[in-house]
Amino acid sequence: MSVEQANNWDAIVIGGGAAGLFCAGVAGQLGQKILVLDHAEVLGEKIRISGGGRCNFTNMNSTPANFLSMNPNFVKSALSRYKASDFIELVKSYNIPFHEKHKGQLFCDVSAKQIIDLLFEECKKGGVVIKNPVTVTGIKKINQEDANQASYPWSVETSTGIEKAKAIVMATGGLPVPAIGATDYALDVAKQFNMPVVNVRPALVPLSFTSDEFANLSELSGLSVPVKVKSGTKSQRYGTCQFDEDLLLTHKGLSGPAILQGSSYWHEGEAIHINWFNDVDIDELFDDDANRLKLTENILGAVLPQRLAKAFAEQKNLMGRKWAEVGKKDRQALKDFLTNWAVKPAGTLGWKKAEVMLGGVDTKALDGQTMMSKDNPGLYFIGECVDVTGHLGGHNFQWAWASGFVCAHSL
Ligand code: FDA
Repeated sequence: MSVEQANNWDAIVIGGGAAGLFCAGVAGQLGQKILVLDHAEVLGEKIRISGGGRCNFTNMNSTPANFLSMNPNFVKSALSRYKASDFIELVKSYNIPFHEKHKGQLFCDVSAKQIIDLLFEECKKGGVVIKNPVTVTGIKKINQEDANQASYPWSVETSTGIEKAKAIVMATGGLPVPAIGATDYALDVAKQFNMPVVNVRPALVPLSFTSDEFANLSELSGLSVPVKVKSGTKSQRYGTCQFDEDLLLTHKGLSGPAILQGSSYWHEGEAIHINWFNDVDIDELFDDDANRLKLTENILGAVLPQRLAKAFAEQKNLMGRKWAEVGKKDRQALKDFLTNWAVKPAGTLGWKKAEVMLGGVDTKALDGQTMMSKDNPGLYFIGECVDVTGHLGGHNFQWAWASGFVCAHSL
């Protein structure tokens, strides 16, 4: 297709996932002529598999403190202009039934597909044109000095021809779940336009272990225990964290909300710290005279699942020993083990099992009020491809909505 035949748009959104579709719908309803391009056969796949198929679409308690970024202040503007309550109102307006599952996390009662349908309907209301599957092979900014090109300076080469636009919105997400078409194309585009990128790695991801300490725990796969997890070091990129959540023992290592949250702060070679006793006062339990003649595994079993209590007693060579016979040193060692188990993960389960990508387009190159590149007017980045990563619990979708919203209002 020649340039003369090309279609002209106010903006082309590349990536029709959560952030891209939402941004397109808002911009379309503001009167902009919007094209969405996506290489996937089916759009919204990540939304469909999110929240176990019920999509944890936002979190009522979402604040900037729920996000990791090299610049923690960057999210403030977008999150204050489009709040969780705004998206909740939108969901209500579509009569989509939902419920709070845990700590402000809102899930659809029926299916994540209802959120995808909502996004398509919003796009329809805005007259948005969606083309997929389409392969984007290049993005160019045409010389502004050429008067003929000045109105539509951006040119996108695709497998179906050239599309021209006043602005480009990169919304191609991150690398998790490559099987459904995840790419880091937005980062290639950022680099093409000389924008800095913060190194990426899988986050909200299960951790794997090779240590001997873990050997007898792998047999307890499937067990879920409320714990306190501490992860990260002060000197590292995102500092430290502490989460009170459930930990899940798996064949390969540790998972569950506590570990997924901790994984975002964890770095290779570091230990994570687990307090298996969470809110229980261990001194009270250990000093209780009523426990003197009880077996160690039974004392632990009063607080922990029986199988785990036995595994820990065995690991510390205290299985079958009456508490009165356990010396001070062994008691202290058991206490340290139970309240501050420092264990070094061998690694993460990688992009296949990660929920989000940590890192991305460096926020220092973007205007937080609009999501536009500071040095490349008309080039925007929204959603997961930006160096903004939410905690588990609906914060990542809230970022997709909020960043898409402010971008749409600036197009
Ligand atoms: P998203 O991934 O949604 O969309 C990107 C789009 O770009 C896709 O349609 C893709 O096909 C397209 N694309 C990629 N490369 C392209 C290219 N080169 N050319 C053209 N198109 C391209 N979050 C949350 O808040 N609550 C939850 O319950 C969950 N649950 C969850 C479960 C699982 C299993 C995962 C993997 C992730 C979650 N998340 C989540 C995270 C959430 O899904 C994620 O943060 C958002 O989908 C990010 O929205 P984006 O629009 O940025 O990317």
